[in-house]
Amino acid sequence: MTPWWKTAVLYQIYPRSFADTDGDGIGDLEGVRRHLDHVAALGADGIWLSPFFRSPMADFGYDVSDYCDVDPVFGTLDDIDRLIADAHALDLKVVIDWVPNHSSDQHPWFQASRSGRDDPKRDWYVWRDPSPTGGVPNNWIRSWSDQPAWTLDDATGQYYLHCFLPEQPDLNWANPELRTAMLDTLRFWLDRGVDGFRMDVVHLIGKDATLPDDPEDLAGLSHVPLNHRPETHEYLREIRVLLDSFPGDRMAVGEVYLLDTADVATYYGDDDELHLNFNFPPLHAPWLAHKWHRQIARAERELGPLGAWPTWVLSNHDNPRHRTRYGGDEARARAAAVLLLTLRGTPFLYAGEELGLEDAIVPADRIVDPGGRDGCRAPMPWDATPSHGWSTDDPWLPWPPDADHRNVADQSADPASILSLYSRLLAARRSSPALQVGAITLADLADPADPADPAFPVVAYERRDGDDVRQVLVNFTAEPVVVTDALAGGGDWIVEVSTHVDHEGSPFTGSLDADEAVVLSLRQG
Ligand code: NOJ
Repeated sequence: MTPWWKTAVLYQIYPRSFADTDGDGIGDLEGVRRHLDHVAALGADGIWLSPFFRSPMADFGYDVSDYCDVDPVFGTLDDIDRLIADAHALDLKVVIDWVPNHSSDQHPWFQASRSGRDDPKRDWYVWRDPSPTGGVPNNWIRSWSDQPAWTLDDATGQYYLHCFLPEQPDLNWANPELRTAMLDTLRFWLDRGVDGFRMDVVHLIGKDATLPDDPEDLAGLSHVPLNHRPETHEYLREIRVLLDSFPGDRMAVGEVYLLDTADVATYYGDDDELHLNFNFPPLHAPWLAHKWHRQIARAERELGPLGAWPTWVLSNHDNPRHRTRYGGDEARARAAAVLLLTLRGTPFLYAGEELGLEDAIVPADRIVDPGGRDGCRAPMPWDATPSHGWSTDDPWLPWPPDADHRNVADQSADPASILSLYSRLLAARRSSPALQVGAITLADLADPADPADPAFPVVAYERRDGDDVRQVLVNFTAEPVVVTDALAGGGDWIVEVSTHVDHEGSPFTGSLDADEAVVLSLRQG
């Protein structure tokens, strides 16, 4: 039987920004629970919740001080239990974020570890003596800065490693007791009924014990995308055995962020490591047909032969939203939705993209994130009232642009809205094995004389599963375009879904309007 995570569409919720019920201007788990009906109505199959664990919030929850409790700002363990139960009642899977590479410096494990060189938990983190010249142990650089990934602990005279903030010390997965403790945190949540985990920078957990310098020619680059180690695969296999020991296809999707994308495929293992891995290069690709053609071909080439299942993502809590990246035009965001939801693989939506949200403009005095990612984390507007369905009109970050119109209530009532387009696409996907699991054949429309021609306007592909077949055509330009007859296949193709709702249900004419993307199905009978 096909496992759920292959056919599912997952909807990412950044809990601080989704819905606030207790008046502090910060979203909470009860807010998520009350809006699960939105996710179900949209037609997604599950949610991925960014961290809600106890945390001093130096990295807004990616610095965990207790893996097995809920931070009071988000609620209680009872709240997450209720949320999981309600999600399951709506047939929604619940995937939570697990942060295995580092804890908070306020975690009792780190407090113990830094208390003395002889502490039993000293080795649960990565401690090293200063170099012979008295400086940092190696040249590794931490994320979001040009600063070393090391901080000296004056009291004990050693440096500890932190690939992110100094408040996020790296855990030492080479220590078997630490591994057992971390696997216990997974068990805790598996027992509570979660369906899977998004594993934060999981490729970082295995490290070369000799901690060699990063290559000089990459000096200045963070160590994070350079850490590709066999030890990680060993630990992932242990994790997979644990997941497989629970009933119900518990899933792991890895945030494996490496310079060489071909290496990412190795983290699926021999179907004994991660079930899925995020595919980030498309998220960084510009909105140009020849670039996307290359991304689709690359994913198929790298993953296809291994039988590894692809994933697609356009936006998340770490990057400007794709509508903003693509220049701000909603028409492009619509065409991108057709692409995202019809490619072969598991799509991840980021809450708010179904409204076509742009990043908020965040004034300098309201920037709170150490990585400057505030704009894409703006609160979700639920309706047109001044508080947009939150319990305050002054939440932790400014509203995204145009929230008076661009909100769930207004768009739900409008069949021509981008929200309606997402629902129609998800419904089409759900009813078509070709779109869910079918093979993909990418049409080669590029000018063979100049395959990298930036004027190349259309990406087209077929999805097929037995007799079920769909054609997808995406016009990446703001000019109308005629598509060849060979592609259109005569008059038998009906426009099942279009960015231009008034084209739906009619025979495909063989041309696309500006920024139009369509899903075509064969005329029945
Ligand atoms: C990746 C997460 O997506 C990001 O938000 C976080 O800051 C880093 N990992 C560190 O945990």
